[in-house]
Amino acid sequence: MEQYERVAEADRIQIFDTTLRDGEQSPGIALNTAEKVEIAQQLARLGVDVIEAGFPITSPGDFEAVQAISRTVEGPVIAGLARTHKADIDAAWNAVKDAARPRIHTFISTSDIHIIHQLQTDREDVKGQAKAAVAHARTYCEDVEFSPMDATRAEVEFTAEVCAIAVAEGASVINIPDTVGYTTPSEYADFFARLYELAPELRQVRMSVHCHDDLGLAVANSFAGVLAGARQVECAINGIGERAGNCSLEEIVMLLRTRRDAHGLDTTINTVELARTSRMVSRATGYPVQPNKAIVGRNAFAHESGIHQDGVLKERATYEIMDARDVGYDSNQIVLGKHSGRHALKDALEQLGFKVEGNALNQAFKRFKEIADKKKQVTSLDLEAIVSDEMREQGQRYDLAWFEVEAGSDRAPQARVGVTLPDGSVAVGEHSGDGPIDSVFSAIQDATETECELREYSVSAVTAGDDALGETTVMLRAFGRLASGQGVSTDIIEASARAYIRALSNALDGAAIREAEAVAAEALASPTPRP
Ligand code: KIV
Ligand code: ZN
Repeated sequence: MEQYERVAEADRIQIFDTTLRDGEQSPGIALNTAEKVEIAQQLARLGVDVIEAGFPITSPGDFEAVQAISRTVEGPVIAGLARTHKADIDAAWNAVKDAARPRIHTFISTSDIHIIHQLQTDREDVKGQAKAAVAHARTYCEDVEFSPMDATRAEVEFTAEVCAIAVAEGASVINIPDTVGYTTPSEYADFFARLYELAPELRQVRMSVHCHDDLGLAVANSFAGVLAGARQVECAINGIGERAGNCSLEEIVMLLRTRRDAHGLDTTINTVELARTSRMVSRATGYPVQPNKAIVGRNAFAHESGIHQDGVLKERATYEIMDARDVGYDSNQIVLGKHSGRHALKDALEQLGFKVEGNALNQAFKRFKEIADKKKQVTSLDLEAIVSDEMREQGQRYDLAWFEVEAGSDRAPQARVGVTLPDGSVAVGEHSGDGPIDSVFSAIQDATETECELREYSVSAVTAGDDALGETTVMLRAFGRLASGQGVSTDIIEASARAYIRALSNALDGAAIREAEAVAAEALASPTPRP
């Protein structure tokens, strides 16, 4: 693996990860505190500079998660998002104040379209709110970031004026959001150039890019912003985020690393953790990664054409611009056999970054033994899949207790399932359906007395080989919420039942969070906008 010299600080691009804030705003994603902490720990291993852990005013759940991350995750700056309202900034501060390096990130729109229609105010008021918000945030914290939302559709002169006010009040980072993914690389670079002309003080602070992918340009625009002077990129793992998502962290990082020869810029991301972080986020969010996704897709380093395969066998550089090992594609290396003991499992999990002890270790060991009986070898990818599956089960409202399915080519499938309910009792459901999986899903609805609408269902294999673990993803609508879940097993029906029950639990959690959000929003004078 090639070793990279660290670039000079002036050429180092800081990575601000917003997977847990903007990313979590994707439809159907509702992570609980434990999952957010687990992802934040992995982001710290990946070496991101800043974790935007959430938007604390929006719900007690968001507040709790940001606070838990601030208290437990070491290394990165931990940021909490806030509108310019005093209550938002107070909540953000209370959530991040226990972090070793806290940041408050406050924002207000500078585009007329937002000022007139959403905020229903005028430019003078926006200036006043930006000034007061940054000043208030600075009474708590030295590290304050300010974002003029929808900047790329705003008048550059006005945006420069508002940013200059934020700098005068003590903001140390100014972020220029392309909130609706509207700009183009040259336009965004010109916008930065004009901002520097109009407000030269912006050269004294760290400028940042935040680009959405509505036109598929988030990475290109972020890169253009960086070439124009920005030294922080806001991005999310697997590019998740509002609508079409954010700039994909893995893509911008590998673009900077791979073409460092051309621009001299780089990050300090530990790129070998990219593939694992991507898998973890995909599992927790239920958002699968498309096979041809750059850097982390299953086929990102696969060669199909004979000519390409031939070339790579002779010399990898003929058709590969990156080494798969540099992004962590060799994580199949740990292999446990069926006779491996608890100690070997614990060791292997530690090498993979999981600290599993006590009951969780017992449970993981039980799952490992079940799988080791069915598979020839248990690899790192299998371990990661089962441990994530076990960890997700903690605190889940519903659980799969058992299931039975009878099916055949000449009989209608019939399923019976036992589901552990939130009160600990086991309810039994029974149903037939179009196939064994459909029958199990209907039997779960029967047992839980819920009505769910299945939106998406997919199955993939964790590793190659005919004894591979199956991993299923379910997205459904229940309790008025869209939610997803994943399940892992050597038995595809069991994996499907687990995923379905997990999605149902997430929908129930999401409904509870929405109720709390509604109460919090009502307590504030104005509704909480989702940026
Ligand atoms: O897209 C956006 O404008 C945002 C801001 C809060 C930075 O997410
Ligand atoms: Zn955004």
